[in-house]
Amino acid sequence: MISISNRLEKVTTYIPKGSTIADIGSDHAFLPCYCVKKGIIEKAIAGEVNQGPYQSAYNQVKALGLEDQIEVRLGDGLEVISAQEVSVVVIAGMGGQLISNILERGKDRLPGVDLLILQPNMGARFIREWFEKNNWKLTEESILEEDEKIYEILVAKRTNTPFVFTESEKLLGPLLMKQNNSSFQKKWKRERDNWEKILVQLERALPTDEVSERKEQLKKKINAVSEAIK
Ligand SMILES: C[S@@+](CC[C@H](N)C(=O)[O-])C[C@H]1O[C@@H](n2cnc3c(N)ncnc32)[C@H](O)[C@@H]1O
Repeated sequence: MISISNRLEKVTTYIPKGSTIADIGSDHAFLPCYCVKKGIIEKAIAGEVNQGPYQSAYNQVKALGLEDQIEVRLGDGLEVISAQEVSVVVIAGMGGQLISNILERGKDRLPGVDLLILQPNMGARFIREWFEKNNWKLTEESILEEDEKIYEILVAKRTNTPFVFTESEKLLGPLLMKQNNSSFQKKWKRERDNWEKILVQLERALPTDEVSERKEQLKKKINAVSEAIK
């Protein structure tokens, strides 16, 4: 059996049994290999844009004898799949800005996909913004800590009902705000401490318009976080 991180294991819990998935930015293809071995899925596409990780994914799939179930494809983002080919897209272990960018550029490949499982290492707000603009309803969120790092997982389904997040919801996650667990508290206390340090430095900087604007943005974020973790 292949062992994977708690982070990736948690991602797999959102994959419906029997679905066909695309794991974009698959690196060693640990996630699809684990899912096939565990019987969660029967078919997967592992996408990689870089030659090194593509080769690692290919070697891993071959070593486990899973070539019939997992196809490793070299390409940028969602261009490795065609519309209607998979029902679930997983993108894990990248920044939220890059993930939302991959979704935006690959929109034409999303028909047929009814579930997005995304695990940004930072900047989850870019993904929530993309959901809002593109009518994907955030159905589940989780936050977990592993090796001193804190990760968020966002799961979304299509919706026909437009919605808007508040600024706080976009930043912190509406469902995570409700859960308000210890990892959430830890992440946002850490972020707030950083922003407060930056604010002190900006107080000493020349008071240009840019500096004032940056200070205002930071104060808003600090207030939103303080309200959420009080
Ligand atoms: C840090 S690894 C994450 C691997 C795995 N998904 C995980 O969560 O452990 C990020 C991977 O994404 C790949 N990547 C980055 N941009 C990509 C893109 N536009 N399309 C496909 N893969 C991409 C990188 O080559 C790298 O292997």
